[in-house]
Amino acid sequence: TAQPAQLLTLFGATGDLAGRMLFPSLYGLQAEGLLPERLRILGTARSELDDAAFRDLVAESIQRHVPDDERCDDALRALLERIEYRAASLDDTASMASLAGAIDARREGDVLCHLSTAPRWYGAVCEALAAGGLGGPGTRVMLEKPIGHDLASAIAINDAVSAVFDESQVFRVDHYLGKEGVQNLLALRFGNALFEPLWNARHIEQVQITVAETVGVEGRGDYYDGSGALRDMLQNHLLQLLCLVAMEPPSQFEPSAVRNEKLKVLRSLRPIGRGEVVGETAAGQYTAGAIDGVAVPGYAQELGRDSTTETFAAIRAHVDNWRWSGVPFYLRTGKRLPQRRTEIFIQFRQVPHSIFGTAPIAPNSLLIALQPEEHISLRVMSKTPGLDRAGLQLSKVTLDLDMQDEFAAHRRRPAYERLYLDALEGNGTLFVRRDETEAAWQWVDAIADGWRHAGVHPRSYPAGTWGPAAALTLAERHGHGWRE
Ligand code: BG6
Repeated sequence: TAQPAQLLTLFGATGDLAGRMLFPSLYGLQAEGLLPERLRILGTARSELDDAAFRDLVAESIQRHVPDDERCDDALRALLERIEYRAASLDDTASMASLAGAIDARREGDVLCHLSTAPRWYGAVCEALAAGGLGGPGTRVMLEKPIGHDLASAIAINDAVSAVFDESQVFRVDHYLGKEGVQNLLALRFGNALFEPLWNARHIEQVQITVAETVGVEGRGDYYDGSGALRDMLQNHLLQLLCLVAMEPPSQFEPSAVRNEKLKVLRSLRPIGRGEVVGETAAGQYTAGAIDGVAVPGYAQELGRDSTTETFAAIRAHVDNWRWSGVPFYLRTGKRLPQRRTEIFIQFRQVPHSIFGTAPIAPNSLLIALQPEEHISLRVMSKTPGLDRAGLQLSKVTLDLDMQDEFAAHRRRPAYERLYLDALEGNGTLFVRRDETEAAWQWVDAIADGWRHAGVHPRSYPAGTWGPAAALTLAERHGHGWRE
C-alpha cells in the first residue's frame, strides 16, 4: 500500500485552476490539519518567479477564493511555509531535467505530481520524470481532464503515461467525484435498504441527469470551441453521474470494486451512431439573451467568430442490461441556461391500478439536487384534507431533506480537498481509470461522428432558456417531460 506523499509537485501552478481551486483546497486541508505533516509543495510553471513572489500569488488566490470566516493567518502561514517554486519549460528537455532533479532532491517519501497543464504535455512530463529517476513506484501522477479529444487521442495520452507509470500510480481527475453531493449518491443508494429494491426498470420509468450552467465560455473560448458540451461535460461529468446512478452495488467502497462496476455501465450504454443521432440527441448553441434579467452576448459574439460548436447537448441514453432494460436516461447539459442546477431526477412508475376513481395520481419521484444547494426530495401523493363528496382527493407533497440545514455545522468543501487527500494517500476510488475514460470516449465518439455524418448543426437557443426546442421534443416524443 502507498505511503502518504511527502512532496506535491504542481505543474501549471500559476494557472487559473490552481488559483481558483487547487491552492484554496490545499489551504482547507492545511487549516484542518489534514496535510501530511512533512508535505512540501513545489509549484512549477513557465513564468520566472522566485519563491516569495509565488507565495504572494498563492496568498492572494486564497484571499480571493476562501470565504472570510474560513481564513486564518496561522494556517495561511503554515501553508506558505511548505511552498516553493521553480520555473520550467515543458518543451525544453534541459529545463525539465533540471526540474526532475529538483523534485528528486526534495524527495523523502512518495511524490505526487499533479499535471494541471494542457494534456498534450502529459506524455512529455512523464518521460522527463522517468528520465530523472522518478518513474518508480514512489511516484503518483494526478491528471486533469480532458484526457484527449476523442478515443484515439485519449489512447495516445494514456499510452504515453503508461509507458512510465503503472495504472495504480495514475489518478485521473473528474472533479465531480470529489463533490460531497456526488458521493452522497452512493450513501443514498448503498447506505439505505429502502431504495435499492426499487432501483430498476420494473419500478423506474425514466431518469434525468441535468448539469445546467449560467456561465458562458468566459475567456476559455479557445479550448471550449475545440471541445463543446459533448466533450467538455458529457463525456466525463454526466457519464460519471450516470454510472453512479446505474451501477450494481460494488462489494466494497474500494478502487477496483467501484470502478469495475462503473465500467460495466459504460460498456452497457447502447451506442448512438449515425442511424440514431437525429432521433436520440439534440445540440444547441446560445445566442444573445438574458439571465436573471441581465443581458448577455451570444456564443459567437463571446468567441469573436462564427462557430458550429455546441454549447448544449441532450441525449436519450439507454443502459442495455437486465436492471435498466427500456428505461431512458435523459442527459442534458448547457451553458447560459436559466439557472445553475445539477440534479438527478428519478421518476417511478405509475401505480398499477387506482382505487380512487378519476382522481389524478402523479407518479412518485426522487430528486437529488447536487448544485447549487444539496437537497433530496421525494414526491409522494397524499390525501387532500377535506370532505370532498366526489370521493377522496389526492395532492402531490414532498418529503424534503435540505443538506445545508441538516449539516449546518459543516462547511462547504471544494471538491479538490477530497481529491488531494485521496491522491496524496494513494486512494484511487474517486479517480477515473483508463478503461472508463476510453469506454466513455468510444460512446461519445460515435455521437460526434453521427453528428458530422448527418450534418447536425447546433440549433440556436437564446441565453437564459432551456436549450433548443429539439431538446424538448427529444423527451416529449416519448411521453416524458424534462423536470422544470
Ligand atoms: C469543467 C468544464 O470540467 O466543469 C467547465 O470544463 C464547467 O466548462 C465546469 O464550467 C463545471 O464545474 P462545476 O463544478 O462548476 O459544476
